[in-house]
This record gives sequence, structure tokens and C-alpha cells, in this order.
Amino acid sequence: MEKVIVTGGAGFIGSHTCVELLEAGFEPVIVDDLRNSEERVLKGLEKIVSRELPIHRIDCGDAVALNKVFEAEKPSSVIHFAADKAVGESVREPLKYYSNNIGSLFTLLRVMEQHRVKDLVFSSSCTVYGDTDQLPVTENSPTGAAASPYGYTKVVCERMLRDASAADPLLRAVLLRYFNPIGAHPSGIIGELPIGVPNNLIPFITQAAAGIREKLTVFGDDYPTRDGSCIRDYIHVVDLAKAHVLALRWIAKQKAPVCDVFNLGTGTGNTVLEAVHTFEAENGVKVPYVIGPRRAGDVVAMYADTTKSSEVLGWRTELTLGDALRDAWRWQQTLGKAAVQ
Ligand code: UD1
Repeated sequence: MEKVIVTGGAGFIGSHTCVELLEAGFEPVIVDDLRNSEERVLKGLEKIVSRELPIHRIDCGDAVALNKVFEAEKPSSVIHFAADKAVGESVREPLKYYSNNIGSLFTLLRVMEQHRVKDLVFSSSCTVYGDTDQLPVTENSPTGAAASPYGYTKVVCERMLRDASAADPLLRAVLLRYFNPIGAHPSGIIGELPIGVPNNLIPFITQAAAGIREKLTVFGDDYPTRDGSCIRDYIHVVDLAKAHVLALRWIAKQKAPVCDVFNLGTGTGNTVLEAVHTFEAENGVKVPYVIGPRRAGDVVAMYADTTKSSEVLGWRTELTLGDALRDAWRWQQTLGKAAVQ
């Protein structure tokens, strides 16, 4: 079986991708120091796939340790998820973001070079498009005007990969721009593990519905949208995970060097209030909420044009917003109050 190093494999998208990789016949090797995850994710993952998975508990920004992993595992490709991703925290601690997100990609590329590993799938984000009124965004929409230090780390990483690939004719890189990943594995065994008060909308909705948080604050209802709240493209994490398998298969077919980029969203935008009401209708529970002020750094609307990923990778989403919100609720019930601080 083809070995794939999965940095951040104990994280939200990483863990779901490991499941899909195994189902598709790949051998994922997790590299994760669990700084933003927990042992229970690994246990859950092993329960779903009914086997133990190789894991190296190291910081993937540690070149010496990463070298040893490559030496021992001899992988043929890498999926690089490991990164910090909280927009607000990145404004307060920008150097942490520049150091962790850019530093770890830099280290990884150096180690890949030393071991002649040439195939890489990189987790980017729609955040690289910044605030745009050209919707839906295509892969050719302008990038670089990211609204936060987190966003800029993705812009810089994308640029680093383009430059590295221009200089190394053997490097084959795919950059995946995720929109808003949500939901959980339908088994209810793995899902998103927000540590502390959630920053993202869906974990906040599930915790408010479960009575863990008093109420959700909807950040603004005076945006120029159909109900005044922001629009996002919410994509089920299992659909997103499957795209990584297709990206690896697509890379393997490339004869010439590549560095290509794909949007991964559903193509449909939903407002915050639509997400709340869909959650209530799907799950038969109320979400207590109030309208609050706008959150700094939020863009009004963002949703994907997915033509390229469907035509080139053959990727299509199969799950709906309702599926994702049911799976998120099932996961919240599995999780109970355990992970709440
Ligand atoms: C942003 C980035 C995304 C990145 C993610 C990482 C953009 C367009 N998106 O997502 O690429 O991967 O951060 O965390 O830059 N909301 C509330 N109340 C809450 C929480 C959120 O109303 O308590 C609203 C927000 O204002 C926003 C929507 O819900 O309109 C989604 O917010 P969130 O889940 O935090 O994701 P983004 O900020 O869209």
C-alpha cells in the first residue's frame, strides 16, 4: 500500500481524511503532536477503521524528528494539514501563526527534498480570496488581500509552493482551498474537537443547543445579504476528505510537474441564520441566539465556484447542509460535556 504522511492527522479534517485514505487503499501515517487534538480522536479513528494506525507524536516543524519519520516510513506522498487556524487568535498572536504555519511547511519541504518525496497535497483556505464581491470565487479570482494574519500565512504558503515547484521540476503539488468545513463522521465517533469556547459557528451552535453555552451570538444582521447575516459555503467534512484521495490519484497521473489549486466548497452559500434554522429543523432542537455586533475581520459573503474541482478531479459533493448539521449534532451528543473547558 502507498504510504502517505498525514501531518495534523489527529485534527478535524485530517482524521476524516485518514478514514477515506484507508478505504481507498492508501496507508496513512499520522504525524501529530496532539497540541490541538486528543487521544480520543485516535481511539475513535481506530474504532472506525478497525485497526491501529501508525502515529508519530512530533511537532512537524521539528526538522530532526521529521527526518527520522521519513527515514523510518519511506512515504511516497504527504498531505499537510498541520496548522493553526483561529482567525481571532492570529490577530492577537501573529508571530505564532507566521512561525507555525509557514515554518512547518518550510521544514516539511526541506525534509521532502532530502528524501526525494515529490507529491504533496496542501491545506489552503478560501481565506486567501479576502473580501470580494466577485462571487462565486473561482481559482483565478484575485488572492492576497487576506483579512487576517492566519489568512496571510495561507497566501504565503501557497506562494512558497509555487516558487518551490517552479524551481524543482519533479515537485507535484496540489493546493486545496477549503471553504467552511463542518459536520462529523456519520458514525458519531469522530468530529470537530473545539478546545475551550468555540470560534467557529457550527460547534457554537451545537454547544448552545446542548445547553453548554447560554446562547449563540449571531455576528451582525445588517450585512447586505438576504437576511442580513453573513453568507458562507458550508461543506461536509466527509465530502472534503474524499477530495484528498482524488487529489492524490490525480497527482499520480501527472506526467509533467504540477502546482495546481482547487476550490473545495459546495457552490452554495447559506447565511448564518439559515444555518441556525436548518439545524433546528433537522434536529428538532432549539438554538438559543441573539443578534450581536459584527465580528472584526468577517467578510460579507463567500462561496465557491467548484467547476474546476469537479471537471479536473472528478469531485462532487454528496452530502447536504442538513446531513452535516445532523452529523454535527450526533457528534455533539457523543462528546457530551467531555471536551468543554
Ligand atoms: C474563516 C475562514 C476560513 C477558515 C476559518 C478557520 C474566511 C472567509 N473564512 O471562516 O477560511 O478556515 O475561518 O477558522 O475567511 N459566526 C457567528 N457566531 C459565532 C461564530 C461565527 O455569527 O459564534 C458567524 C461568522 O460571523 C461567520 C460565520 O458564522 O459569518 C462562519 O464563521 P466561522 O465558523 O468562524 O468561519 P469563518 O470565519 O467563515
